[in-house]
Amino acid sequence: MGYRTILVATDGSDRALIAQRRAAGLARAFWARLVIVTAFTDEGIPRDAAEDVLAYAAQEARRGEVETETRLLDGPPGEAIPAAARETWADLIVVGSLGMGRPGRFRLGSVAEQVAHAAPCDVLIVRTSGDTPSDPAAGYRRVLAGTDGSGTASEAVARAFEVAEVVHAEVALVSVGDPLLAKIALEKTVKGLYGIAPARSIPRAGDPADEIVAVAGEEGSDVVVVGNQGLSGLKGRLLGSVPGAVAHRAPCDVLVARTTGRTLDEIPPGRAGIIEVDGRKAAAYVEDDGTAHVLSARCQHLGCTVGWNATDRTWDCPCHGSRYAFDGTVIQGPATRDLPMVGQNGASG
Ligand code: FES
Repeated sequence: MGYRTILVATDGSDRALIAQRRAAGLARAFWARLVIVTAFTDEGIPRDAAEDVLAYAAQEARRGEVETETRLLDGPPGEAIPAAARETWADLIVVGSLGMGRPGRFRLGSVAEQVAHAAPCDVLIVRTSGDTPSDPAAGYRRVLAGTDGSGTASEAVARAFEVAEVVHAEVALVSVGDPLLAKIALEKTVKGLYGIAPARSIPRAGDPADEIVAVAGEEGSDVVVVGNQGLSGLKGRLLGSVPGAVAHRAPCDVLVARTTGRTLDEIPPGRAGIIEVDGRKAAAYVEDDGTAHVLSARCQHLGCTVGWNATDRTWDCPCHGSRYAFDGTVIQGPATRDLPMVGQNGASG
């Protein structure tokens, strides 16, 4: 499955170039289209300069033999970038951790923070502070994914494995909490991976964000993958949530996998995810022709939230192993009933 359209924002700075090269490297690895955007505003980059920035960025990307298109955005980057992602069906936005705005108290720039909140898709925040990697386009070698054993965390973990497989990296899992519960969460997550084994499972006790950041440092992780759960709140603020705190403080790139708060309109053809319908979780899969299958996300065994298995195109329950086809038909127990359809089924988009 993987990313099909990767959108990267640049302001022409050296820091933005690091993010752009990372995006180009991923686009090459995923055979994805690369959309490069630059926003112009009265207060920020003037239109003429933005056009020059885009032309230079496109030239640089095409040298890497990546299918590239450019878009000039009119408006504040924090709002214009997520809007452009919607228009281009981007399934990944790449932004630099700094640049395109004044940094706040932490190292994360205001644009990266706004984009992380408003994006309709995954967001990769490329670390552009501290030491500049000698070859930012190089793939990742070590991926770290945080899990609490929930269905949405399992979706983020699945994303970590998708990325790792494409760039030939290894994945370590970390779960933070009561020692016994952290161990159970790791076992549950690994069980839901159906035979794919993480390089390491690391249970930790303490503050989740502190521990994930610490483990990323100890493991020499190149990227930490976290779900976006907890990112909601006052507009433009991360409010100390776990993914937000990790995005601010991680010593490496951070991939915020959008696993909650989506609507059906945000699932591109050929993809699946947990969406919200009338305030409830629904499992949505959109076929390549736009036909949508929207099902209850509650496993019909004991009610855990199912997660998407992109390899087999099935909805799998992380609790006791029930599996359902993309249309909800039960294909493995202990569940005996199909996932019921909920509203919104039909052609999407
Ligand atoms: Fe899903 Fe038990 S709750 S298999």
